[in-house]
Amino acid sequence: MRFSIILGLVGSCAASLLQHANQTANYDNLTVAVVRAPPANWPLPLMSNNNWTGVEFDLNATVSKGVNLIKQAAGNGANLVVFPELWFPGYPKGMSDNVSIASHIKNYVQNSLTLNSPQWNRLVSAAKTNGVYVVPGFSHREGNYIYMAQALISPEGENIYLRHKLRPSGGERTIWSDGTLNELKVIATPYGRWGILECWEHFHPAMTFNVQAQTETLHIASFPYTPDYGDSDAADWQSAEVNVAAARTYAVNAQAPLAYASVGNVRFITSGGLDIDVVDASESFDKTPLAYTSFNTTGLADTVPYTTNGEQSWGILQQINAGFPSYIPKVMGDFVARNMVKISDRLQAK
Ligand SMILES: *[C@@H]1O[C@H](CO)[C@@H](O)[C@H](O)[C@H]1NC(C)=O
Ligand SMILES: *[C@@H]1O[C@H](CO)[C@@H](O)[C@H](O)[C@H]1NC(C)=O
Ligand SMILES: *[C@@H]1O[C@H](CO)[C@@H](O)[C@H](O)[C@H]1NC(C)=O
Ligand SMILES: *[C@@H]1O[C@H](CO)[C@@H](O)[C@H](O)[C@H]1NC(C)=O
Ligand SMILES: *[C@@H]1O[C@H](CO)[C@@H](O)[C@H](O)[C@H]1NC(C)=O
Ligand SMILES: *[C@@H]1O[C@H](CO)[C@@H](O)[C@H](O)[C@H]1NC(C)=O
Repeated sequence: MRFSIILGLVGSCAASLLQHANQTANYDNLTVAVVRAPPANWPLPLMSNNNWTGVEFDLNATVSKGVNLIKQAAGNGANLVVFPELWFPGYPKGMSDNVSIASHIKNYVQNSLTLNSPQWNRLVSAAKTNGVYVVPGFSHREGNYIYMAQALISPEGENIYLRHKLRPSGGERTIWSDGTLNELKVIATPYGRWGILECWEHFHPAMTFNVQAQTETLHIASFPYTPDYGDSDAADWQSAEVNVAAARTYAVNAQAPLAYASVGNVRFITSGGLDIDVVDASESFDKTPLAYTSFNTTGLADTVPYTTNGEQSWGILQQINAGFPSYIPKVMGDFVARNMVKISDRLQAK
């Protein structure tokens, strides 16, 4: 019963999007480009400079840079271009303490992206003009709130999907508001089923399981910035060791390959968790602003986990609950309350 309802939904979602499929295009060959160049006005070097004194976020200049990267990627055969987390207008690295963010919050909010704004429309028309899917990572301003957003813009210039990071990590929660569970959706495209998450969402079962259970043939991961392995300037939570481990684990659980976009070190990971292509953070951004990999989607489409003979199934949540040892009470606990941070409160906070 539950099987047929879920598979029915999956089927109808796939059908409605496949109507847009271009009959003459070759959907066997999916070339993905991940952005690794920084946004405009972002302090470099990557790990040793968090100094924002006299540096302003610049959404317009970042959108111009993003549009150029989309064009360049499409010119090199990409069908999908993925941006790092909060690339528009830039991840505020080094600003996690209240004192630093307080002096930049106004500038940050002003440079956050609003849907259907002139800047948003430039990204949509870049997707359309160049005939590519685009996944922007952006600070999304909506009314008195900003969210850590990802979207999927189609080659026809439609905004197919918008989501907000379900629970921003650590100090991010003093700035950005939480998303909602119903935004955790896998999207059917003519190239296969794409799941999209950002940064530490790849660690947390409330986010990973819901997306993996919808079956993905490709997972799209946006991280903010990643140094190389062994970078002594990186805190544990910033390190490639920790963040790439989350991505590898995700790919293995999803049984889907993964595209890892981030400023600095980027990579593609197989469904088995190994590297396909890696570009190190030390590589010049001017020389290599993007990294590419092509997938034969015919092979990917066969990789559907969560079947009755798989290691995980739709019934896994019941199994987890049933498997609790007796000292854990079988009562419904409290859900994590949605955290909403008013921009107006942040602007007043000193
Ligand atoms: C369909 O795909 C072909 C081959 O990639 C391309 O030349 C053509 O312009 C596309 N048509 C539309 C309507 O997008
Ligand atoms: C993808 O794999 C299938 C099955 O092995 C093969 O028939 C097809 O030619 C391949 N397509 C590309 C673009 O390599
Ligand atoms: C940050 O940059 C400003 C302006 O260039 C400079 O005056 C200041 O010394 C720098 N601070 C640090 C900690 O490097
Ligand atoms: C897939 O597309 C890329 C980008 O256009 C191209 O470089 C590559 O040769 C294609 N692969 C196959 C097997 O056709
Ligand atoms: C930082 O500011 C937020 C919002 O004003 C506040 O909730 C939080 O307690 C502050 N944290 C610290 C460490 O002062
Ligand atoms: C950014 O670009 C928009 C139009 O795309 C323009 O209206 C606005 O004035 C620009 N903002 C700045 C700060 O230059």
